[in-house]
Amino acid sequence: MSWAPAELDLSRPNAARMYDYFLGGSHNFAADRQAADAVLAVAPHVADAARANRAFLRRAVQYALKQGIRQFIDLGSGIPTVGNVHDIAHSVDADARVLYVDVEPVAVAHARALLGVDPRVDVIQADICFPDFIIDNPTTQRLIDLDRPMAVLFVSVLHFIPGDVNAIVEPFRAAMSPGSALVISHATSGTATSQTEEVQRLYQRTPTPLQLRHLADVQALFGDFAMVAPQPGAASRADRAALVPVSHWRPEPKDHLAARGQPASPFLANFLAGVGMRGPAVMTEQPKPEPAKRQASRQEGQR
Ligand SMILES: C[S@@+](CC[C@H](N)C(=O)[O-])C[C@H]1O[C@@H](n2cnc3c(N)ncnc32)[C@H](O)[C@@H]1O
Repeated sequence: MSWAPAELDLSRPNAARMYDYFLGGSHNFAADRQAADAVLAVAPHVADAARANRAFLRRAVQYALKQGIRQFIDLGSGIPTVGNVHDIAHSVDADARVLYVDVEPVAVAHARALLGVDPRVDVIQADICFPDFIIDNPTTQRLIDLDRPMAVLFVSVLHFIPGDVNAIVEPFRAAMSPGSALVISHATSGTATSQTEEVQRLYQRTPTPLQLRHLADVQALFGDFAMVAPQPGAASRADRAALVPVSHWRPEPKDHLAARGQPASPFLANFLAGVGMRGPAVMTEQPKPEPAKRQASRQEGQR
């Protein structure tokens, strides 16, 4: 257990490590496995949903790469597993930059151990409820060029945060230059059943209880970004139809198993995903006049 930080409370289940268990990983403890098994007992398709979400993340990153994006900020990145963002990105461009952010010490310790020293990839331990801390962080500034397009990923993380999550997403939207992609997956209330209520009750025992939101509230997180059509070839959508179950966002044949699990599982049907693109900047004001001081010093230099 060299990957487990000493200060961990091993008696309390944790959503990051339960997710690792759902995905078949080994970075979890007895309390996590017990809580995850209790969730699976009432909602066996949660493990399918976790795999389908992970497959969505892969397809969304591949989509961003196809748009020419070479910088990624993965917020609530979790415990590294198969198909991490840097693995996907580097399979297309070895120079792609990836910043991972997570609040959970095991996720961060394991990511650090896996990444070693790599100038193209880094990890910050931070709470995404403080977006400015992340955007202004020296690690972000070193790794990510905010003047170039980037993909910002909020994949299966915002439903662990109570309150106004737009206050978290908005500063990222504002920092994203034209051509950037915003990627979100989020468990929604949809047709809540006794099954979803029981899953919610079980997550109350973790430090991050599940916060199901309405579809319209998740759509609002994309602001004025143009929604990418969930099916290739269709026009981009400004409406709610651009949010679909994670398994239905541009599925690939190899993801068929996860997609097949959907009709049986209200949890998967309400686990929605979407990608929004920031369009070109619209000029709303005249270019700012040059500051008087700089103008004066240039005149000085010209003399
Ligand atoms: C279900 S996992 C998702 C992992 C990964 N994004 C994926 O979709 O495969 C949720 C992750 O969000 C992290 N998380 C939850 N609340 C957070 C917060 N306020 N700030 C940063 N990370 C958070 C958890 O620690 C966990 O690793």
